[in-house]
This record gives sequence, structure tokens and C-alpha cells, in this order.
Amino acid sequence: MQKSTLIDIKTIFPGPKSKKLLKSDLSHGSTSYVRNKPFVTERGEGVCLIDVDGNRFLDFCAGIAVCSTGHCHPEVVSAIQKQAEGLIHNAGAIFAHKPLSLLLKKLALVAPGKSKKRVFLSNSGTEAIEAAIKLARHSTKRSRLISFFGAFHGRTLGGLSLTASKIIQKQGFSPLLPDVTHIPFPYCYRCLFGKTYGKCQFECSSYIEKTLFKKTVPPDEVAAIFIEPVQGEGGYVIPPQEYMQKLRALTEKHGILLVADEIQSCMGRAGKMFASEHFDIEPDIICVAKGLASGMPLGGIIAKSKVMRWTPGAHASTFGGNPIACAAALKTIELLEAGLIQNSATMGTYLLKGLKRIERKYPIIGEARGIGLMIGMEIITDKKSKAPSMQLRDRILNEALQRGLILLGCGENVIRFTPALIVEKEHIDCCLDIVESIIKNCITTI
Ligand SMILES: Cc1ncc(COP(=O)(O)O)c(C=O)c1O
Repeated sequence: MQKSTLIDIKTIFPGPKSKKLLKSDLSHGSTSYVRNKPFVTERGEGVCLIDVDGNRFLDFCAGIAVCSTGHCHPEVVSAIQKQAEGLIHNAGAIFAHKPLSLLLKKLALVAPGKSKKRVFLSNSGTEAIEAAIKLARHSTKRSRLISFFGAFHGRTLGGLSLTASKIIQKQGFSPLLPDVTHIPFPYCYRCLFGKTYGKCQFECSSYIEKTLFKKTVPPDEVAAIFIEPVQGEGGYVIPPQEYMQKLRALTEKHGILLVADEIQSCMGRAGKMFASEHFDIEPDIICVAKGLASGMPLGGIIAKSKVMRWTPGAHASTFGGNPIACAAALKTIELLEAGLIQNSATMGTYLLKGLKRIERKYPIIGEARGIGLMIGMEIITDKKSKAPSMQLRDRILNEALQRGLILLGCGENVIRFTPALIVEKEHIDCCLDIVESIIKNCITTI
């Protein structure tokens, strides 16, 4: 049993209360729910989660990069409580209300680039993607869409059409949107063109113009290219800045909209308000969700005003821009601007440095990479073949949980580190100690 001020594991997993609830959950819940975490959450406090049996975990998952200000940040809780006493709902697509009006303005102002922006709010990430697809088609009068292998853009039928992450997510759901083409993501550690960053000619970029646009996809029929500025579910892959700038230039040349899916990377997660800022690009549409409202369901798109010109009634949502979610988002942005974005950058650098040290020491670590607190680490069989090891990755995730550290995987073989933006050195040191000790153990027992 593990015990510290951050972690306190009192039972074997699942504890007796968790066991009972999980049994009920398994017999009543959708069979599509993944239930491979053997505990049931009761409370969240900052960077910690407490289960129904009283076990306390250090949470480096933050509800899949959602709880940006930590679990139940007192100021966010108080903003939610205050708003709930005043107004819980008034369909924002028709009736303007104060938190919505304030948030629309704030998001339009903080978005990257000089162009004037407009904002549409939804309840989730995938709905933001649906809105972006519809807006791109409506605005360009074109129908084709391009996205990337490894991409995750959600699970509604439009979003799923763009998604190309795991076959299980697509199997059995055809037909999806027609005329969606997937292209290689600039994944330098595993370049699909067999090149090395620094010595390459950005073949991944010229492929679009030289092959795709000449052979199969007429560029003047393409409404938008969707890209995650940091590919999330696909393995926390960061494209080179040059690639993003080339993509921006290429889309401009052909009148194609560039849609940045920042659902996972927005709101300080990547060490700046938006990850696009790292690449010095201004997308035409930015999709946001996850960390936006510290865990209240809220998503949206921020588009250049010249793009968002659809007519009243062309797109709407009953719940989108809910007053309580908007109040939580306004408080979240206030906290981000007051220091949490800076903390994400500083603590992200500290965590990555620690993981890089582990990468250099152990043969099963391929690459640790990240910006801000969006950090991934590839687990491989050996440094020469770089063969992905899902088995070892899963073993590390399971052992970490047994020791009270919550981590999540992504891609085929990557561990992601996405603690809340309030994380401190003490939490990171604890995480690094646990991860290194598990890896050391793995080496001696494989
Ligand atoms: C980049 C990205 N896009 C879209 C989505 C879908 O968001 P949601 O699960 O809120 O529908 C996700 C969720 O993980 C995501 O990471």
C-alpha cells in the first residue's frame, strides 16, 4: 500500500464499494464504455482524485485534459454556484444572456491573429467539429474535407468521418461523410516518408500539392483541412513549425479554410492560450472544448468574421452556451490569464526535462515530447527498431495506477501526461519517481 500526502492507497483494487458500483455500472451502462480502471471516483481536489473507498490518487490525466484549473477549483465552484442561483438555462441561440455575451466577446478577443472573430458555442468537442464542418461548407460552397492519419476529431458522424485514429472507432458505422481524404501527419519520430527532420525537404507537405491535388483531390473542391496543432489521441505528436506555416500558405493559395482542432490543446494546455500561437499561424476556424470550462460541458468554434457569415437559424444548439458552463469558462479564462498558462509552460518544461532524462537512461523509452502540459512518451521494445510496445505501455499504466498515479495512454504506445494546470514541482517529482521506478522494474523483468 502506497502512502504519502499526495497518494494514499488503502485497499486492493477495486475496493469493496468500488467493486459493487462497478458491477452495477457494467450491467446497466453502454457496452461501449471502456471500464479498465478498477475504481469509482467520488471526489476531486486539485490534482488529486479520491475514490469511494477512500483511496487517494495523484491525477495526471485530469479527466482527459479537461480539468484545466484542477478538480473543483474553489473559484470555479463558487462561480458555478452563483450562476446556478440566478439562471440555469435560457436557450442561448435565441435569448442572449450575460455570461454568454461576456464569453463570446472574451473568446473572440483571446483567439490568435489580428482578424476580427465570431464565436458559436456547443456542448462538446465533437459538436464543435460538426459546426466547423458545416461552417466550412457553407462559407466556401465546397464539399470536400481533408484531415490526417492519427487524427481524432470526435465521434458524431461528421467528426468520425475526419477521425483516423483507431479502427474500433470506425468499424460498423459506415457510410460516413463522402469525399473526406486522410493524409500523413508530420510525425517526425516515425516519418511515413522515411525522412529525418532537419535533413528532409518536408515531403509530407509537398505531397499535398504534388500528389494529392494532382491525382485525386481537386483543390478547388476542398472546403477545409482539419488539423490538431498537437495531435492528441494519435500519440501527442507535435508538427514542425515550418510544416504548419507551409500548410497555412497552401490553404490560403487554394482558398481552403484551415481548421485548427484545439479541443485538447486550447486554454493553456500547450503552454499558451492556443497551441496555434506556437506556430505563429492564424487558423480560419478554431475548435475548442475540454479545458474551456474546467469540466463543465462546453465547446465551440471561433472563426474569422469573414468566414462566419451564415444566416440566422443556419446553425444552433438548445443547450450550447449554457449559463453555468459560460460562467465556469469565464472564471477559468480569468485564472488562466492570472498565471495558470505561465504555470503550464514552466511546469511543462520541468516535467519534460525529467522525462527526457528517463528517455536517455532506459532502452524502452523512444521519445518524450511535448509543449506545455501536453506531454507524451513513446514506449518501444528497443531504440534501434523503435518498434512500438503497447504491452509495456499498458503494463506501466497499470502499475502506475496500483501505486496511486493516474495516467492515460494515447496512440499505439504512448503515455500522456496531462495534469491540471495548477500542478506543482512536488507533484511532478512524485510522478517522475513512480514512472522511473516502474520502468526500472520493467527492464529487469522483460
Ligand atoms: C482533438 C479532439 N477533437 C475532438 C474531440 C471530441 O471531443 P468530445 O469528446 O468532447 O466530443 C476530442 C476528444 O478527445 C479531441 O481530443
